[in-house]
Amino acid sequence: MSVPAEQKVLLLLQHAGPYEIRSVPNHTLQAGEVLVRVEAAGLNPSDWKTRFTEYSFALGGVYPARQGHDVAGTIVQLGEGVTAFAVGDKVFHQGYYSNRLAGFQQYTAVAADLVAMAPKNLSVDQITSIPLALMTAAAGFYQPRNTTGGGAGITPFWQDGGRGKYADEPIFIFGGSSSVGHYAIQLAKLGGFSPIITTASAKYNDFLKSLGATHVIDRTLPLSQLPEEVKKITATPITFVYDAISEAGTQNAGYNILAPGGVLILVLLDAIDKAKKTEDKEVTMAYGSPHIDDPKARALGVEMYERITGWFESAVLRPTDVEYVPGGLNVIPDAQERVRAGTVGARKLIVHPQETA
Ligand SMILES: NC(=O)c1ccc[n+]([C@@H]2O[C@H](COP(=O)([O-])OP(=O)(O)OC[C@H]3O[C@@H](n4cnc5c(N)ncnc54)[C@H](OP(=O)(O)O)[C@@H]3O)[C@@H](O)[C@H]2O)c1
Repeated sequence: MSVPAEQKVLLLLQHAGPYEIRSVPNHTLQAGEVLVRVEAAGLNPSDWKTRFTEYSFALGGVYPARQGHDVAGTIVQLGEGVTAFAVGDKVFHQGYYSNRLAGFQQYTAVAADLVAMAPKNLSVDQITSIPLALMTAAAGFYQPRNTTGGGAGITPFWQDGGRGKYADEPIFIFGGSSSVGHYAIQLAKLGGFSPIITTASAKYNDFLKSLGATHVIDRTLPLSQLPEEVKKITATPITFVYDAISEAGTQNAGYNILAPGGVLILVLLDAIDKAKKTEDKEVTMAYGSPHIDDPKARALGVEMYERITGWFESAVLRPTDVEYVPGGLNVIPDAQERVRAGTVGARKLIVHPQETA
């Protein structure tokens, strides 16, 4: 398969600055990598957060910066030593904030052990919605407790004894309709948690119950009323809270619901009122990437990418809804504004970088 010498990329020129599309030299592969022609890339809230807010630390201060976490496409070249894939394979993987890995470009170079074959039963757009959201839910569930980048220390559902292990243990998940929350519900169901209580707009009730939620609390209920609402559902202390929203309000409400000995998993930086913190409640922030500088994050990613295709082909997991936005990399700035405004709802926006003008 021919590989062009140049490719188009979307560059963020500076912190809070504009984007620009430029033609740049294509990647030269290192051993163990594959070159993927990016046919679909997904937008995420982290794109605008790393562009405009204190989360820009994730870009490492390097501008122009490349972004884009979710990638599906075709392998067009194999690095030395790669035998698990062939040129022409349809694959998907998680991108990252680096020139090689970012999804908002026409080609990416990625380590082959963090790539998976595209599930045959899903469209390229549906597949693209998977990587970041699933990895963020999984990191929060499965990374060990009391570590940086840690999680709840739950046994993964694919490991011995993991399926159904947490029967009769309740879990509370803020934001079940978010992409991350959608997978948190499914992982909770696979672990056997019960009840699985989540918050969302009432319109998502049936959908979230079809994923495994047993109780959906309307997200317009004042957060101060949540502890009472939870007591109506279960008398068992809640020792697992996954906050897929992690605004200051939900974080503090989650801390109030959490029982001593329990763990609250955040997806954003800790904003819990310091005055009310006690040593018997653990708070941790999930890092949903196998590409960060943390061996346990990579190890979880490798374990998952060995199995991920099968989970979706056999409907063990279901992807989120997607909306394809025509216009390639050119439309990302406008589409990002929709994500930032919070008007997209329970679906992921997908662009096709090969359409870039
Ligand atoms: N730490 C990490 O590595 C990591 C990785 C990925 C994402 N994140 C963070 O995780 C969060 C979720 O990301 P995402 O991509 O999953 O989001 P998303 O899919 O864009 O979330 C949108 C959904 O969240 C719902 N929602 C918004 N505010 C809510 C609230 N207060 N209570 C309940 N539901 C609410 C919306 O409901 P309506 O439709 O009713 O408006 C909408 O359905 C973001 O803050 C993101 O930055 C962190």
